[in-house]
Formats: sequence, C-alpha cells, structure tokens
Amino acid sequence: MEKRELIHHEPVLLEEVLKWLKIEEGKIFVDGTLGLGGHSSAILKRAKEDALLYAFEWNEDTLKLAEENLRPFQGRVKIIPKNFVYIKEVLEKEGVLADAILLDLGLSSFLIEGSGRGFTFQKDEPLDMRMSLELELTARDILNRFSEREIAEILERGEVPRATAFARFIVQKRRIKPLETTFDLVSVVKEFYRPLKRKEKDLLAIVFQSIRMEINRELENLEKALKDLPEVLRPGGRLGIISFHSLEDRLVKRAFKNDDRLLNLTKKPVTPSPEEVKRNPRARSAKLRVAERRC
Ligand SMILES: C[S@@+](CC[C@H](N)C(=O)[O-])C[C@H]1O[C@@H](n2cnc3c(N)ncnc32)[C@H](O)[C@@H]1O
Repeated sequence: MEKRELIHHEPVLLEEVLKWLKIEEGKIFVDGTLGLGGHSSAILKRAKEDALLYAFEWNEDTLKLAEENLRPFQGRVKIIPKNFVYIKEVLEKEGVLADAILLDLGLSSFLIEGSGRGFTFQKDEPLDMRMSLELELTARDILNRFSEREIAEILERGEVPRATAFARFIVQKRRIKPLETTFDLVSVVKEFYRPLKRKEKDLLAIVFQSIRMEINRELENLEKALKDLPEVLRPGGRLGIISFHSLEDRLVKRAFKNDDRLLNLTKKPVTPSPEEVKRNPRARSAKLRVAERRC
C-alpha cells in the first residue's frame, strides 16, 4: 500500500482533549506525539490566531507526512523531530511555559499499517519494531541474541503469561532457525500457547507489545515525561495523557495522584463514547487523564 493512502489516522477522544485542555483559552501548546497531526490540526483550528504549537514526533516517515498535513498552519507550529523526553529541554531553551501539553501514547495507524517495521502480527514483516531509526536494537536482536533470562524479564515486564517458560521455548526454537519475521514470532507464540486459554489475538498483542515497549523504552520515556512536564507548564496549565494499556495508565494515574506539583482533575479516566468506538475501534482501550499545574 502507498504511504499516501495511509495518511489518515483518526484522533481519539478529540472533543474531550480540546475541552479538557482548554484550547480556546491558551496560547502555547505542546503535542508530544504528533503522529499524522490529527490532534495538532484540531488544536490549531480551535486555538486563537496567535497560538503556537510545539509538535514532537520521533518517527522519521511519520514526520514527513505530518509536515504535509500541517502545511495550512505554517507559522503557528514548530515541528520538532525528537522524542518527547526532550520537551522540557526544548521549552526551556525557547523560554516558554505551556498552557497545555498532550501525549497520545502508542502507535498510529500509519506505524501499524504502513511503516513496514513489524508492529503488527497481522502482516509478515521483518522483526524490527523501532519507532525511530535513532535506536539500534531491533526485535530480531532481542529474540535471537538476548539470553533466556533477559527475554523472560522483558516478557514479564509486559505481563505476558508464563513468561519464563515461553522465553525458554523461544531459545529452543531459535537454535533450529532464527526468528526473522513477525510471522516466525506468531508461529512460536501459537505453538507454545496451544491449546489457547486466552483469545489468540490478545495473546499475540501482549507478546508484540512487550517487545515493542522494550525496544522503544516506552515506559521509561513516559516516566521521564511525567517527571519533567509539570516543570514546563504554567500555573493552571494542563497536562493530558491518553494511554492504551494498563501498564501506561497505571504510571499516569499514580503520578497524577501523588505529584505535589499537580492537581488531578480526572479521578476516573475519560473514555470514548460507544459511538466513537463504533466509528474507530482503535479508540476502544483509550483512557485520557488530565492534571493541572498548581499555582
Ligand atoms: C497514537 S500516535 C499519535 C496520533 C496523533 N495524536 C494524531 O492524531 O495523528 C503516537 C505517535 O507518537 C509517536 N511517538 C511514540 N513515542 C514517541 C516519543 N517517545 N516521542 C515522540 N514521538 C513518539 C509515534 O511515532 C506516533 O506517531
């Protein structure tokens, strides 16, 4: 499929984000996960004429597509080709505090469907899973070169069932033939977990997710952002984070509850309406939590 055909990614919880982040009132915004620019475009449409958006994106191909999508907003957006862990550094250099910061974690439809980097178990692609080519380690490296114990730890962190025994099985299998593609990993999962106690898709999703999280240091990046971002919010400024699984949501929930710099505004997370889930099944597991910087 052509990359251009994959340019669409429906932003999740869009109206909720615009409302909770009080976009109409602010001037300086940060989108830490630009993706194809769905949330960013909507923020710029809703914001005042003199608003400025700093948009961070780590994936090189996504950046090119996003630049095109954000062309109508030239002059009101600064696209920054970096990991969102650099938000604090960049804003401090610019000498600004943000009125609102958004992180929409995880993968875009483009990364899943069009990147060719092995993010989905539904296509046979090389076992890569790097969001950015800045990273060196690939899924192939982990599965074929890491020790049994290291693999078990990665699977355990991702809450994969029977992680230790599954790691042992991977090591046995790779002695016969190295795992090269996503379908090689799918076969190993299916063989090990048969007869399946959970839905096959859920099991594959959790195995793929645990490896992807390790490669992209996803939980570490989120932890650093949770520590840094309150420092670059103006008093009364808002931080909104959309997560898609419990490991991320747990970190956000804990930080918003315990951080003295923040007032937790969403005791329960904001979730998509049944209409949104019907229109966009990817939104199914989305949870938005919002906190405000105390004065
Ligand atoms: C769920 S998508 C965002 C979609 C976007 N909100 C939209 O409406 O188009 C997440 C995006 O964040 C990017 N990303 C993930 N982790 C990142 C990080 N640590 N720093 C910067 N970008 C990241 C991914 O490459 C992906 O494009």
